This record gives sequence, C-alpha cells and structure tokens, in this order.
Amino acid sequence: MKLIVEGGNSLHGRVRISGAKNSALVLIAASAIARGEVTLDNVPKIADVETQLEIIRAIGGRVEWQGENTLRLALPDELEVAIPYQLAKKLRASNLFLGALAARCGEARIPLPGGCNIGSRPMDLHLKGLSLLGFDVGLDHGCIKARARRLKGSNIYLDFPSVGATENIMMAAVTIPGTTVLENAAKEPEIVDLASFLNALGAKVRGAGTDLVKIEGVPELGCTRFSVIPDRIEAGTYMIAAGIAGGEVTVESVIVKHLQPLIAKLQDVGLEVDAGEEAITVRRTGELRATEIKTLPYPGFPTDLQSPMMALLCLAKGTSIIVENVFENRFQVADELKRMGARIRVKGHTAVIEGVERLLGAQIKATDLRAGAALMLAGLAAEGKTEICQAELIARGYEKLEEKLTGIGARVESIQAP
Ligand code: UD1
Repeated sequence: MKLIVEGGNSLHGRVRISGAKNSALVLIAASAIARGEVTLDNVPKIADVETQLEIIRAIGGRVEWQGENTLRLALPDELEVAIPYQLAKKLRASNLFLGALAARCGEARIPLPGGCNIGSRPMDLHLKGLSLLGFDVGLDHGCIKARARRLKGSNIYLDFPSVGATENIMMAAVTIPGTTVLENAAKEPEIVDLASFLNALGAKVRGAGTDLVKIEGVPELGCTRFSVIPDRIEAGTYMIAAGIAGGEVTVESVIVKHLQPLIAKLQDVGLEVDAGEEAITVRRTGELRATEIKTLPYPGFPTDLQSPMMALLCLAKGTSIIVENVFENRFQVADELKRMGARIRVKGHTAVIEGVERLLGAQIKATDLRAGAALMLAGLAAEGKTEICQAELIARGYEKLEEKLTGIGARVESIQAP
C-alpha cells in the first residue's frame, strides 16, 4: 500500500481518538485467562488487533465484533497452547500469549515474535520472570516453551522496566498460589489498564502504575465487560500534526495525564497547548524552536513518539538533539527524512537535527509503524507530493487514518501498490 500526501495545507478541526492499540492487544491476550465471555469496548479496528484476534481463533476461541468497536470473546475450557508461526511473526504482541496461556493452561508454545524492526527486542526478562514463578522455560526450534513445574508466588526484579515482560509476568502470576512481587515494573498506562482488567476478572493485582506490583494468586478468573483506554500515541501523532502543518487541532476522548510528557515538549518548541478535561488543543502561532528530547520508560518521553517528533524538529529553528534510550535501532527514519531535505546526523543513540526552512515531497519508505507516521507528518508540511511505500505498516496502528486526517483538512490518499 502507498500513502500519497499533498503537503502545504494547514489543519483545523477535531479528531476523536481511538482505543489504545497496545492496551487492546494485551487485553485480547489476557482474555484467554478468563472463564466465560469477555466484552471489550473501545477496541480499535486496526491490522494488529485483527492479527491478535486470529491468534485467539487459532487457539480455539470465538470472536465477534458488535457494532464498530465492541468485541465479544469466548474461549472454551480446552485451549490450543501453541501459537502458529504465520501469525506470531506478524506482530510483537503475539508474545503476550506466553503469560496468558501459561496462566490458563500451565503451558505455552510461542514462536519468537515478529513486529517492528526497531532493535533486537530480546525476551530474556519475560523468561526469567516465568522461570522464577516455577515454569520450565526454554527455546526449542525457534519457539519459546513454558511448562508449569512447581508454581509459587515469587520476588522478581526486572533489570529494565520492560512493558511486555511486566505484562507477561502479571498475567502468568494471577492464578499462582502466594504473593508475587514485581520490582522495577513498567509503569505505562497500558500496564494499569491490564491490572484493572485482570482485577475486573477477579484477580488481585495492586500497585500497577508504580514500579512495585504485587499479585496475590486467586484460584480462577471469571468474566467481565471492560473499556480500553484512549491511545496516547495516536493522540500525540495528531497533536504533532497540528505543529508541523500549522493550524489548530483538538484531540478528543483522551486522558490528558498520559500526554504530559508530549505536552511539555510541544510547549518547548513554541506551540500553544490548551488541555481540558478530556480534550487537548494544539495551535501553532509562530516559528518552531529547537529542543532536546530523551526517550525513557513512562512517565518519560515515549519512544513511540520519537520519530514523529523528529519530523517536527526538522522544521524547527536551531539544532535539536534526540537521545533514544529504549530501542537501539529507532533512527532509520532519519535517512528517509533526509530524502525530503532534512539535515540529521545520527551517532549511536543520538540524533542531531539542524532545522531547515522547508521539506520537499519525495518518494520514501516506511521502515516501521511510527517511522511511517513520522513520514506522513513530514509529508503534510512538505512542498509538493510525498509518496510513502509500505504504508500498510502505518495502518497497523492508526484507525481510520485517512478519514481522520482528511476530516481536519489534510490531503491524503492511500492506494493499493506493491
Ligand atoms: C511495548 C510497546 C511498544 C513500545 C515499547 C516501549 C506493545 C505491544 N508494544 O513494546 O509500542 O515502544 O513497549 O514503550 O505494547 N528488553 C530486553 N529484554 C526483554 C524485554 C525487553 O532487553 O526481555 C528491552 C528491549 O530490547 C527494549 C526495551 O527493553 O530495548 C523496551 O522493551 P519493552 O518495554 O519490552 O517493549 P515491548 O513490550 O516490546
């Protein structure tokens, strides 16, 4: 798929933000632990969610969309514990079935997951956690295998607050007798959403959103109806769009607190930001100024908005610096932005961006989901036409992208192309 962007239009209007991709993906996996039917509201209809649902079907579950964004999921008593490679290779979040199936079936076989090409993305912390909980874990013919040995609540310290490892360990521990204490846990809003969901199913998880999460094992989980939190990364992308293209955009149905790290940076670069209860308006009234950004686990600046911010800083006056501390390979977008006239030097984890007066439309390639979003943003501000190849990568994470962008005055069109 190709995304064609005609640059030069300022943006005006309101965008309703969808449910969070990263939350929906883990809640769908966690539904495998429930006994009975689970209903999830505010689920974004995007390619990654469809793949996660294919996995649910492959392990024996039933899935039904009700209306636009409500999902009903029902899993039988007997589940298949192996995830097909063809599905697992499509997205990183397939790894979240490790904790879910381990909890539900005492056994899981997960092919090493795929997903965005943004670094080596190992699974050592996930495996260490499950091993401490009493699972035999190992790698076998490209698959991660876990099988219950002697399960017991445990103290687990994560060397890095990995989102996926925190989620897998939380899910694996919910039905294990005793207390599990997870230290240096990830604090992302999606972790809090998972804990709330598990608790709604009858689990006893406390402390989510802090770096110490405690899980008291319960014998079994029940069923529930639950609504996914808004997508802070989607919201952030439209906020940055207002900055790069100019104009005034309001994102609606957001949780303002989740966007504080971005709001602070947008104010730094000279944008006006008005935050209400559930909406944020971003307005550009003058020149963009350079800034410095360091990506960090939440509540630091999110790595998923690093590439979109790089696109914005290409047009800021002065020299900006970005330090990427979460993924080692997340600057591939710089080469594509350079095709549009950006001046960026990358050395290791640091990118130095010299602001330029203008970007020029070009033929470029999305190298990963958020890189693709960054190129789309650059295209909105560039002179002339930008053609982004591999745009299906962008569709993995943005619901109704074209409709939402054209709704605020952008000129974008996606076409089927090799
Ligand atoms: C999740 C998000 C992704 C986001 C990332 C960081 C989903 C589906 N994806 O990815 O959008 O960019 O959090 O906010 O929720 N690491 C290890 N060993 C491990 C696990 C991770 O070294 O066992 C490292 C990774 O290589 C990476 C860092 O920890 O450098 C962060 O990864 P992690 O927080 O696990 O990200 P994901 O859960 O894969």
